[in-house]
Amino acid sequence: MLTTALTEKLGCKYPIIQTAMGWIADPRLVLATTEAGGFGFLAGAVMKPDELEEAILAVKAETDQCFGVNFHMFQPSATEIVEIILKHVDQVQAISYGRGPDAATIKRFKDAGVLCVPTVGAVKHAVKAVAQGADMVVIQGSEGGGHTGTVPTTLLLPQVIDAVDVPVIAAGGFRDGRGLAAALAFGAAGIAMGTRFLLTQESPVPMETKDRYLSANVNQIPVSKQVDGMPQRMVMNEVLEDLEGASKVGLLLRGIKNGWAFKKLTGTSVVAMLKSAWTMSRKTDMNIGQTMMSGSAPVLIQRAMVQGKPDEGILPSGQVAGLIEDIPTVNDLISKIVSEAKGRLTAIATK
Ligand SMILES: Cc1cc2nc3c(=O)[nH]c(=O)nc-3n(C[C@H](O)[C@H](O)[C@H](O)COP(=O)(O)O)c2cc1C
Repeated sequence: MLTTALTEKLGCKYPIIQTAMGWIADPRLVLATTEAGGFGFLAGAVMKPDELEEAILAVKAETDQCFGVNFHMFQPSATEIVEIILKHVDQVQAISYGRGPDAATIKRFKDAGVLCVPTVGAVKHAVKAVAQGADMVVIQGSEGGGHTGTVPTTLLLPQVIDAVDVPVIAAGGFRDGRGLAAALAFGAAGIAMGTRFLLTQESPVPMETKDRYLSANVNQIPVSKQVDGMPQRMVMNEVLEDLEGASKVGLLLRGIKNGWAFKKLTGTSVVAMLKSAWTMSRKTDMNIGQTMMSGSAPVLIQRAMVQGKPDEGILPSGQVAGLIEDIPTVNDLISKIVSEAKGRLTAIATK
């Protein structure tokens, strides 16, 4: 009942993807997803090349199953990341990306048997990604976590299914078996979830931060451009309230302050940080304050996600966090979604 193009192409048991989330989708989470029958992506977009290779080897050491890697071409050392992935094509079965590689690099992945599965937030991006060689696309509706578009999942999903001829996977707002059944009814090949996997036992996010997610309701998870100039959905907290009220000069000052913290945390030079911020922002119309904030956003995310200080950092989140009340193991989560989805599909077919 749950065999779809997604399970067939990615070789997993259930049509459920654990998406990449910076500093969260680590080897432990990916392994737990894989063992439970889903398909997990490592968060390569925030890793240095040697960190990514270490993470890939850590997953390979524990399983023969395949998994995926997420990265973006605007991240530092993206070309090295590409080579590392190509070195591990025996188990790295798929890549996911926002701003993806050029057509020639996509061809290298495809020739090596790696499936290209970009995430898109608009129909035109889906069409372009498929023209460039995407094997499947994940659509992320506006309710989804982190950087997000403006069209809700219930509208974007049928739009993209009608516009492309590759399997489409639904993301943005999913957490249970009803959602999976609904996505399949729309014609999707499965679902992809971020926030729901963030709130599991195997997710490395400290409990203080998980608690902050659990206590948010759907109206407390807005979209803001104040962190890095791009629309990003986050749980409202003290830091986001402060950024929302900040002037252009205020943003610049906050960006510089976080920039120094970023330098201390990572050893990255201010020049490298500015370069990365500039690369990320050159196609947007951000002011200088937003550009500085953009370059230092990783500090704010790590403060919440790694150091467990939810009041001092930012909390990227899907709106679905407002409906999530528990922290199950990944295995319990996937088993429950599967049995609920089968139950819903059977009930619909027999009524
Ligand atoms: C905390 C957090 C971090 C994220 N980091 C990344 C990332 O590094 N790369 C990426 O492509 N998407 C990232 N995303 C987006 C997710 O991969 C996924 O597309 C989104 O969470 C789906 O919506 P949902 O949260 O409603 O399930 C992130 C999302 C969250 C909540």
